[in-house]
Amino acid sequence: MKYLVIGATGNIGSRVAQRLVDSGARPSVFVRSAKRARALFDDHVDIHTGDLEKPGPSLAAALAGVDGVFLVTDGWDLETRDRAVSFAARHAGVRHVVKLSTLDVRTGIGTGPWHARGEEAVRQSGAAFTFIQAAGFMSNALGWSESISRDGVLRSSTGGGKIAFIHPDDIAAVATAALTTRDHDGETLVITGREALSYGEMAAAIGRAIGRPVGFEEISDRQAYADAVQWAGKGPNVDALVDIWRAVRESRLETMTDGVKRVTGREPIPFAQWAAENVASFQ
Ligand SMILES: NC(=O)c1ccc[n+]([C@@H]2O[C@H](COP(=O)([O-])OP(=O)(O)OC[C@H]3O[C@@H](n4cnc5c(N)ncnc54)[C@H](OP(=O)(O)O)[C@@H]3O)[C@@H](O)[C@H]2O)c1
Repeated sequence: MKYLVIGATGNIGSRVAQRLVDSGARPSVFVRSAKRARALFDDHVDIHTGDLEKPGPSLAAALAGVDGVFLVTDGWDLETRDRAVSFAARHAGVRHVVKLSTLDVRTGIGTGPWHARGEEAVRQSGAAFTFIQAAGFMSNALGWSESISRDGVLRSSTGGGKIAFIHPDDIAAVATAALTTRDHDGETLVITGREALSYGEMAAAIGRAIGRPVGFEEISDRQAYADAVQWAGKGPNVDALVDIWRAVRESRLETMTDGVKRVTGREPIPFAQWAAENVASFQ
């Protein structure tokens, strides 16, 4: 079987591609930077360069002879890229598209509507699909590294609300299972971490991992927006983030599922483990 990973230089796609390599497969990757792909995977993958903004023949060439695609797209207009890939995939005879989506398709919060439209585009292509509706990623906590390492504090508008962040390796494990078996064709896999934690509890867990206390300070939505604009610029991404943080505060994102266990046979990785693995980022 031949697999193509789109988003292979990113957080989740790189893990999926690496899992495929570790299992003895030789996946293809569709990337904007061959250099970045080579640095990650050496010569264990077939590299196709191109840009989903103007895919053209580069995408068709990458899809030739492929059985399954893992698809990561991002942004308010991700539907256009989901459509371009899934229709090209169907045209090329690809059997199966596994799309990384979000749990928020179910709530309509944040990026949920973007992914709902993306899922619909994949459905319309006629390709067999699996949608992975993931909860917030534990790796989002890397965005807290500056204030934790500098001030020993996490500032957030999430208040005491809780969310069951998921480890990127759990997402990659589920995605790889969906890609390499026929067990989840046509399914929507809703996956979360094993426990819903408040941001204060996650700050404390990072504190335990780094060996010094980390506090939590609640800030207003307005302040959270202003802070996010500093690193992400104004636009729909920041609006979506503030929307998500508000929903966490209002306890609308506490969902937990047994999706990871059902697909992988093991419990999701706890936040404490993620923190221990990422101590260097918070020193
Ligand atoms: N963070 C969360 O809590 C969360 C929760 C649920 C769902 N999600 C969803 O997860 C997805 C993000 O996954 P991730 O964290 O793995 O993303 P990521 O680390 O930001 O990686 C994005 C990947 O897409 C590639 N890419 C971007 N634009 C491209 C283009 N025009 N053509 C070709 N490749 C392009 C990037 O390549 P370059 O290396 O060239 O930039 C990179 O490989 C989004 O759909 C998001 O909504 C996130």
